[in-house]
Amino acid sequence: MRKGLFITFEGADGCGKTTQIKLLNSYLLNKGFETLITREPGAIGLGEKFREILLNYEGDVSPTCESFLFLADRAQHVDCIIKPALKDGKIILCDRHTDSTVAYQGYGRGLDLGRINYLNEIATAGLRPDLTIILDVDIETSMKRVGSERDRMESAGTDFFNRVRNGYLQIAKQDPDRVKLISSADTIENIHKKVVELVESL
Ligand code: TYD
Repeated sequence: MRKGLFITFEGADGCGKTTQIKLLNSYLLNKGFETLITREPGAIGLGEKFREILLNYEGDVSPTCESFLFLADRAQHVDCIIKPALKDGKIILCDRHTDSTVAYQGYGRGLDLGRINYLNEIATAGLRPDLTIILDVDIETSMKRVGSERDRMESAGTDFFNRVRNGYLQIAKQDPDRVKLISSADTIENIHKKVVELVESL
């Protein structure tokens, strides 16, 4: 029983997702919709423990272990937070979801894309976003926005960033019905207008 809408926001670090989610949330609340802002990794409860390891652990983390931690977090998030909110008819605005694992662990770390897609299917029990908005950002803008205090993922380097960015471009090409790409090289206001147009079309 799915009554709400599931919208995910994706993009490389510093692409401006968080700002756009907040603006869209205000827009939807003004229109009288019930919304839920959430994120991966680490929405609430157990997810916060995964987030702590994924972003702050200082030792080596193997790419496969990293993937499973993101996927474990996702499974918990889908079952305990996303599905109940969808049932309640909420519009869910989710900061990162399955495409992050494809872009970061698949394209970025070089893990097999077919396997990642399969594991994503298991973690989500087949639930797919109604709409995914990718904000495309170049590395200079990203680094400026992220600043000098970087977490484990943000410290992975330029080549990694470029692979992730390219991964997102491929994802948008391969799934054009669900995934929409917006350049983040524009004003916050203009990007917001484009986001609203996409959401209104749902
Ligand atoms: P976060 O601080 O939430 O960054 P942002 O504000 O850019 O979303 O950190 C999440 C980091 O985890 C980000 O660098 C992307 C990475 N990530 C993956 O590598 N794989 C995943 O499946 C997810 C959900 C996130």
